[in-house]
Amino acid sequence: MATKRSTPQRGKPLSANGDPPAYPSNNRPAHNPNQPPSKPASTGLSRAAQCALEVQLMYSSRAANYDFEKGGWHATLGQDFVDWLTPIRPGAAILDLACGTGLVALPAARAAGPKGTVVGVDVTPEMLESARAKGTVGGMARVEWVLGDVSVDLMGLEAVGRVVRERGGAEEVGGLLEARGRVMVDVPTEDRTVQFLWYHVLRREVGLECLFDSRWIKGIGSLEDLFENAGLEVVRSRRVKSYVPESWNAKEEMWDVFEKNLAFDTSFAKGGKVQMARKLWPEIWKTGLREDGRLWNGQALYVTIGKKPQ
Ligand SMILES: C[S@@+](CC[C@H](N)C(=O)[O-])C[C@H]1O[C@@H](n2cnc3c(N)ncnc32)[C@H](O)[C@@H]1O
Repeated sequence: MATKRSTPQRGKPLSANGDPPAYPSNNRPAHNPNQPPSKPASTGLSRAAQCALEVQLMYSSRAANYDFEKGGWHATLGQDFVDWLTPIRPGAAILDLACGTGLVALPAARAAGPKGTVVGVDVTPEMLESARAKGTVGGMARVEWVLGDVSVDLMGLEAVGRVVRERGGAEEVGGLLEARGRVMVDVPTEDRTVQFLWYHVLRREVGLECLFDSRWIKGIGSLEDLFENAGLEVVRSRRVKSYVPESWNAKEEMWDVFEKNLAFDTSFAKGGKVQMARKLWPEIWKTGLREDGRLWNGQALYVTIGKKPQ
């Protein structure tokens, strides 16, 4: 399909402020990306149900404090997501998949105005509760919060990778778009940061494999390919700086970083996973080291906006 290539060009990502990323990506994969994922531990649940539980386990305990984590960066990013979609047409209908506490949906509702409609869908009841508790004020779009698993019920975006890529969600979302409608997706970059190693390598190694399979992301072009393969035209892509407060950690900080992540990611508590994780962490840590022997603790994103071809 002939589609217009967006700027920046594939393989030359820009950060939000136009600077190159603080550290270039380190191309030393710990695992063969072509290797099929290890089998999930047998729980008698369907994979979708198991994944929904894993997600809920991770977010239910965080819901009350989610908006304030690490200086409140989620809220800043949520507002920026909406700004990147500007102009949002007054009266627009907006679907926010994996809406969490509404940090994108609510600013979007302000932008769409009183004739607009916003529907936020999320699988974690506590996250939706926090969203609902915020209420709405005059001048905002009508907002509805829906409890649902977008990988099962809707085929949506979410922290997109698995859902969109493995299950044809991009085509489905494209099908939902109005003629002038747009779709925006964000994914983490392929940089081997602490976040990458924790969420995309360590979790998988201990059998917590449902979240964040981003091994298909090789650069800004991966998301663009996804859109184009789904029949969408890429409008714009950007590489966004880390909104998570960053640091560059030396070897001596390895266990401190481990404990902090563990305190945050409660999914490890079950089934002896902590012990397993402790054994694996030193080797996994090494795979992300930069030339200066430090590991980047941060998370840059690729964000792509697409639309239906005219
Ligand atoms: C990192 S939070 C993002 C929340 C919100 N989009 C934001 O930017 O603040 C991820 C959210 O995705 C939700 N989620 C993950 N997988 C989901 C799925 N399959 N269906 C619905 N929600 C999902 C989680 O419950 C969580 O609230």
